[in-house]
Amino acid sequence: MNKLIVANWKMNNDFSDIPEFVKYVKKNAKGEDNLVVCVPSVMIKDFADASKKLMSTGAENCHFAEKGAYTGEISAKMVKSAGASYVILGHSERRHIFNENDEMINKKIISALKEGLKVIFCVGETLDEKSKYKSVIKTQILGGLDGVADLDNVIIAYEPVWAIGTGKVATTADIVKVHGYIKNLVSENYGKNLPVLYGGSVKPSNSKEILALENVDGVLIGGASLKAEDYIAIAKSRN
Ligand code: PGA
Repeated sequence: MNKLIVANWKMNNDFSDIPEFVKYVKKNAKGEDNLVVCVPSVMIKDFADASKKLMSTGAENCHFAEKGAYTGEISAKMVKSAGASYVILGHSERRHIFNENDEMINKKIISALKEGLKVIFCVGETLDEKSKYKSVIKTQILGGLDGVADLDNVIIAYEPVWAIGTGKVATTADIVKVHGYIKNLVSENYGKNLPVLYGGSVKPSNSKEILALENVDGVLIGGASLKAEDYIAIAKSRN
């Protein structure tokens, strides 16, 4: 199966970018599968309708409650009914800018899985935490997956915070080392081999090398996913 290529548009591309993006993919990505594009919630329906069988649509976040008095929030059921089949949870920007903690992320994961969404669960250490990445990642994973009975729809994304949007990519040796650590941790605790994506300054010039690595099951791309040309160039670098 082809490795997973996930775009994270964050709060960048908007409605007006959808037609051109989809048109380019339709024309230039014949035979490419396992493409997921995560877009701002208000754009899920438009993106999903426009991209149909070409790409899966994902949300960039959702709330943990099914419904209620949470002004401005969006539930897993809402993103699902808008057309998303994936949701990114625990992204470092959510953790650091919006103060999401492991407990909150855990509740979101449980809620999203209950709705049948596939969860892209992000973990990763900051620059200050680099020397103790094992304990940081272990706390994030065990906290995020606490009480999650069925892990079949969970995909982990390893995103070292210091590599996100900075142009600094983890070395291939670091990626192999940390992905190996995550795979072992998950297998020891849950008896499963979960897919692990790498994220952090992935671009067409480095994706081939990263995607060829052992234990890298795909990539999560921010900046380089905004233009369809770059996104598809990354998808085509899968071997
Ligand atoms: P980047 O972002 O590719 O721009 O580093 C990755 C991410 O935040 O998911």
